[in-house]
Amino acid sequence: MPTFIKPRWAIPERDATPESVFRSRRALIKSAGLGAIGLAAAGPAKAGIFDRFLGADEPKPDDEVDPTADLYPVSRNPAFAVDRPLTDKGLATTYNNFYEFGSHKRIFNAAQALPIRPWTVTIDGMVEAEQTIDIDSLIRSMPLEERIYRHRCVEAWSMVVPWTGFPMAELLKRARPLSGARYVRMKTFLDPEVASGQRQSWYPWPYVEGLTIEEAANPLTFLVTGIYGAPVEEQNGAPLRLALPWKYGFKSIKSLVRFTFTDQRPVSFWEELGPTEYGFFANVNPEVPHPRWSQATEEPLGSSERIPTLLYNGYAEEVAGLYAGMEGERIYY
Ligand code: MTE
Repeated sequence: MPTFIKPRWAIPERDATPESVFRSRRALIKSAGLGAIGLAAAGPAKAGIFDRFLGADEPKPDDEVDPTADLYPVSRNPAFAVDRPLTDKGLATTYNNFYEFGSHKRIFNAAQALPIRPWTVTIDGMVEAEQTIDIDSLIRSMPLEERIYRHRCVEAWSMVVPWTGFPMAELLKRARPLSGARYVRMKTFLDPEVASGQRQSWYPWPYVEGLTIEEAANPLTFLVTGIYGAPVEEQNGAPLRLALPWKYGFKSIKSLVRFTFTDQRPVSFWEELGPTEYGFFANVNPEVPHPRWSQATEEPLGSSERIPTLLYNGYAEEVAGLYAGMEGERIYY
């Protein structure tokens, strides 16, 4: 059974967690031998903790040429610029969270086992147009653009990445949700034969995430097909993932296979595992700490200096209106 070794920079959980939650999570983690999101970070990070992910063990090159490779690079949309340097590609593609392939950051080689073709995406539930689409036809039918987005993990590390993709609003146009649909529930692939993490039965596989229809239709909500001017790599969520730059990174679900429109609020993977720590909205707010650590600052990948975290991760102008009148609700974690 793998053992989870707590990194030196993690804060003691008991400092900030209600005793009962602390005890039950510790019991779960101990009995299962797993890491949970947030145990692998937070608190004052050590200088250079990311250095070891560079160079030494690069992802293995793909043998197969991606059938959409000819589409890249696409033009960058200048409306989505960020006043921070881009994260080094080597870091963004080798320091990952993808629990399907392990509860640690170094899953990039294991993730190459994911067969990303053939791949279909199903749209179902409360829509006028239920459909299953081949990923290549979907990508070729969409108006691709490149956007530079911030990404802020709930664990308090961050990056700045050039994603290629299309607004989720385009998928909504194609699905034509019924007027009673209030949410979209999204699902990652399920294949325990290739994804060893999915053999760990204490996790509620497959990974699920959800948005309100208004969030899904917001112009910032981006379905990603590419990264750094090329098709997105397996470890980053190929062939289709979400990028929600104003929410904690766990909402940006990877390797999507299904979008189900519904009138019921979906319960996400992390919410089901730890409802006191991970909620439905999970909007970034430096003033609302995670129950076990502060969210006031973050460590950009590749940097040893912490920087202040911004409300809605710097996207308040674009998204604060979505939550008008909801201030009393749990919208920040
Ligand atoms: N999607 C799936 N299916 N499985 C995961 O474990 N991890 C999430 C999110 N999407 C995760 C996922 C978390 S916690 C983060 S921070 C981002 O993916 C990390 O994206 P990256 O590895 O491309 O940086």
